[in-house]
Amino acid sequence: MIPSAHAAPLNVLHWWTSDSERRAADRLVQQLGAQGIEWHDDAIPGGGGGAAVKVLTGRVLAGEAPDVAQVIGRPLTDWAGLGLVLPLDDVAQRGHWREKMFPVVLQTVSRGGRVMAAPLGVHRINTLLLNHRVLERLRLSPPRSWDDMEAAARVMRAHHVTPLAWSDEPWQLATVFETVLLAEGGPKLYAELASTTGWSAWHDPRVAAALRRLRWLRDLDDEPTTEDPWTASARRLQAGTAGMLIMGDWARGELQAWGERAGTDFDCVPVPRTAGMHLYSIDTLAMLVGRNAQRAQQERMAEIIAQPATQMAYNQAKGSVPVRTDIDPTQLDACARDSWQTLAQPGAPLLPSIAHRMAAVESVRDAIGEVLHRFIKDRGVTAQEAQAQLASILRGAAQ
Ligand code: BGC
Repeated sequence: MIPSAHAAPLNVLHWWTSDSERRAADRLVQQLGAQGIEWHDDAIPGGGGGAAVKVLTGRVLAGEAPDVAQVIGRPLTDWAGLGLVLPLDDVAQRGHWREKMFPVVLQTVSRGGRVMAAPLGVHRINTLLLNHRVLERLRLSPPRSWDDMEAAARVMRAHHVTPLAWSDEPWQLATVFETVLLAEGGPKLYAELASTTGWSAWHDPRVAAALRRLRWLRDLDDEPTTEDPWTASARRLQAGTAGMLIMGDWARGELQAWGERAGTDFDCVPVPRTAGMHLYSIDTLAMLVGRNAQRAQQERMAEIIAQPATQMAYNQAKGSVPVRTDIDPTQLDACARDSWQTLAQPGAPLLPSIAHRMAAVESVRDAIGEVLHRFIKDRGVTAQEAQAQLASILRGAAQ
C-alpha cells in the first residue's frame, strides 16, 4: 500500500543521541523522507538505552505508545507476547528477508515464526579500539593476548599514556565483562551462560576468572572514580591520552563521526582471545500497535530500513554492519569487514550480548550491572561472592 501524501509523521522513540548515532539516524530519516515516510524524532538520551526503555514502558502503560520504538532482543519477546507489536511477515516476504539476511538476524527479529521487528544493523561487542598514532609512536602492535595487552600497557604507562579508557557505569561494565566472559570461558561456556536455562554454568570457575580479569582491566585506568559516558572514553582514545578502549563498535562509528579514519588514526581488533568470534547486538525497530496505528506507513518504514541503500548508508555512519548478505564488503572499512565476514563465516561462533538485551531481559541486565558495579567499586567483595550473586540472579530468572 502506498501511504497518502498527507500521512502523519511516525513518532520514533530511540536512544541514539551521540554524534555518530545522530548522524546514522539522520541518514535513516533521509532515506525514509525520500520515499514519503516522515520521522518524528523522540530521542531519550543515555548510553545503552536504560533510560529510553523505562520511558517507553511508562508511555505504553499510559496508553501513549509511540508508533515505532527501538525494542531489541529479549524485550521484543515480551512486547510481542502482549500483542503490542505489529507483525511484519508480509514486508519480510516481499523483501525476501529470509534469503537476503543473516540467519542470526532473522532469528533475532522472529517470535513464534513471525517477524516482529525491522533489523537495522549488527554491532560487534568484542571490539578493542586502539589509538593508531599512539601505537606507532611507541612501536607497539595491536595486542592479541592479555600478555600483549599487559606489555603494551607497561610501555604506555612509561610514556604517560593511560592504557585503557574506562567507565564504571554499570551497563559499560556489563559490556566489557561479557567480552571477558567470552575470552576466559570460550564460546561454549558463554552460550550456556547466555541461555535462559543455563544458570548452573554461572558456577563455573571460569566466571570467577573473568571477574578477576575485569578488575585487572579496570586497573589499567588510574582514574579512581569514573562514571563517564562512553563518548567521553572515546574522546580520551581519540586524544591519545588513553591508548585502548573496549567497547561495542558504535565507538568506532563515533570516532569516524569526529573525522578519525580506521587504519590511520585508530585500529580495531577483536578483544584478546575472541578472534573469529562475534559477540553481537542487533539494533531493531519495532512497529507498535498504539491507539492510532498507522499500519501502511509502519510497514513502508520497515521495508525501507531493509533496502540495501539504507542499510549501507545507515551502518557506515553507525559503526555496525548491514544485516544483509548481499552487500559489497569492499565498501566497508577493515573493522566492519572483519565483523561482517565473521557473521558470514560458516560455523563461526555467534554469541548474543547479555548486556545489550539479546540474551537477557531488562531486569536481569540491570541486576548484573549492579553486581559488577559493587564488585568493581568495593575491593572487599571477592570474585567468589560476586559470582555467587550473579548465579543467583540468573537462577531466579531461569525459565
Ligand atoms: C545500541 C547501540 C547504541 C549503544 C550506545 C546499544 O545498546 O545497540 O545502537 O549505539 O547502545 O548507546
